Amino acid sequence: MANKVVKIGLLGSGTVGNGVQDILFQDSQELEKKLGLRLEIEKIYTRSPQKKPWFSSLPQKFTTRPAEVTKHPEISIVVEVLGLERQEDAKNVANYIIDAFRAGKAVVTANKAVLASYGEEIHRAATEANRDLRFEASVAGGIPIIRSLGEGLLPDHINQLYGILNGTCNYILSSISNQGKTFESALQEAQKLGYAETDPTADIRGYDTRDKLIVLLQLLYGLFVKREDVTTEGIDHLEKVDFDYAQQKLHSNVKLLGYIRRKDNDVVARVSPIMMKSDHVLARVDGALNAILVDSQYCETMCFVGKGAGAGPTANSVVSDVVSIAMGHHIQRRPIGFQHNKLLEEKEENKYYIRFVVKDRPGIVSEILSYLKENMVNVDEVLQLRHSQEERTYFKKKCGFTGAADKILPFILTVEPCREIPLRKALDGIKRQDFLLTEPVVIKMLPSLPDVVTHQV
Ligand SMILES: NC(=O)c1ccc[n+]([C@@H]2O[C@H](COP(=O)([O-])OP(=O)(O)OC[C@H]3O[C@@H](n4cnc5c(N)ncnc54)[C@H](OP(=O)(O)O)[C@@H]3O)[C@@H](O)[C@H]2O)c1
Repeated sequence: MANKVVKIGLLGSGTVGNGVQDILFQDSQELEKKLGLRLEIEKIYTRSPQKKPWFSSLPQKFTTRPAEVTKHPEISIVVEVLGLERQEDAKNVANYIIDAFRAGKAVVTANKAVLASYGEEIHRAATEANRDLRFEASVAGGIPIIRSLGEGLLPDHINQLYGILNGTCNYILSSISNQGKTFESALQEAQKLGYAETDPTADIRGYDTRDKLIVLLQLLYGLFVKREDVTTEGIDHLEKVDFDYAQQKLHSNVKLLGYIRRKDNDVVARVSPIMMKSDHVLARVDGALNAILVDSQYCETMCFVGKGAGAGPTANSVVSDVVSIAMGHHIQRRPIGFQHNKLLEEKEENKYYIRFVVKDRPGIVSEILSYLKENMVNVDEVLQLRHSQEERTYFKKKCGFTGAADKILPFILTVEPCREIPLRKALDGIKRQDFLLTEPVVIKMLPSLPDVVTHQV
């Protein structure tokens, strides 16, 4: 007896869409043997079919009309892997997904930006149509984190999650930290190697990490928050000097993390650079890799590490979602909303690193300390490295300082655990002072982040 055929429609034929086509066209027989059913791409929507690698052998599969995918009577699973040239395109893409549900299809999407903006509408449409929505590739590309959180850890209570969710940022930060590059040269190199876009804003300002964090909040807690409600800091204010201080004085490393901390129904979620001990499992994840550290009630701490992007890993995640739906697995957790859809201000006390670059003159440190004292922020240490002429000249150029380079002085303070609000108040006062050449750089220090101990000393 012939195996059942499951027909699939693709919206998008870019990096990920072509990767999905490669797997489903090239590996179809092997997949059929493994699954006992045949996965068949029926239609592929793209605006430029002739340019696509599979067009010359399978021209009849391509269409320039999205409705030929979303409303095709034989297609049961729609795979949405469209890029967004402009943020305004997100609404159109969300509508394609909703149209597909209304036409009775299940949907697989890789699109964190669309889920972050229209997640509630999309999840509602899936529930109303009683169809599956899968989005494994939308967070951490090839790492099966959505399945792990949505199925593997379904009975557990996730209390904390810390993720390196953007490979571009991790590549840049690793290059600064390990090879002593400046931010600018690390970014240029990432662009040359294809890790960073020509316009890197969404990555380096933390927006891409924020969208992935929002998708995780939807999955874990049914919490649908607005993008602007997630306090988001990027990495474009960090300098090589911060990594020098982190390594040489504080035995630490800095990573851009998206993190979630939950207590009962209170959830804090943020994106920011975090300073952690150099031997922490996340501190040692280098290059363009992604990593997610999960701390839960029953399983305690575990860490997932792997490729967060690229045609192969991402297409694998998309096809694994297709397989799961085709095989009739419906177990993945559905978002069940909290009573309120609001994130909390972070109330916890944390240690902070503050880096200053000043025009040297007597009394600067005592002026800074007086602002901190006024706001009840206790200083832990004042630290200074020996700065080379080259470094001072770098800051002279960067700050447009017209005086002599040896008048430029970088130094840092660390403060004892305090709330962020009084610290920010103190900094508002400090920022008005004429000795500052750049805005102070503040990095949250989490020396006791939950960790996975992989080796015993
Ligand atoms: N690349 C990765 O490693 C990766 C990893 C995880 C998740 N994702 C997500 O996967 C999705 C696809 O990413 P990608 O890297 O494959 O993108 P891509 O290479 O830029 O391809 C985007 C596709 O979308 C189409 N497209 C873009 N804007 C459009 C518009 N306004 N109207 C109609 N079609 C439009 C393109 O059109 P044409 O075919 O007409 O040229 C192309 O087929 C995105 O949501 C992305 O965030 C990507």
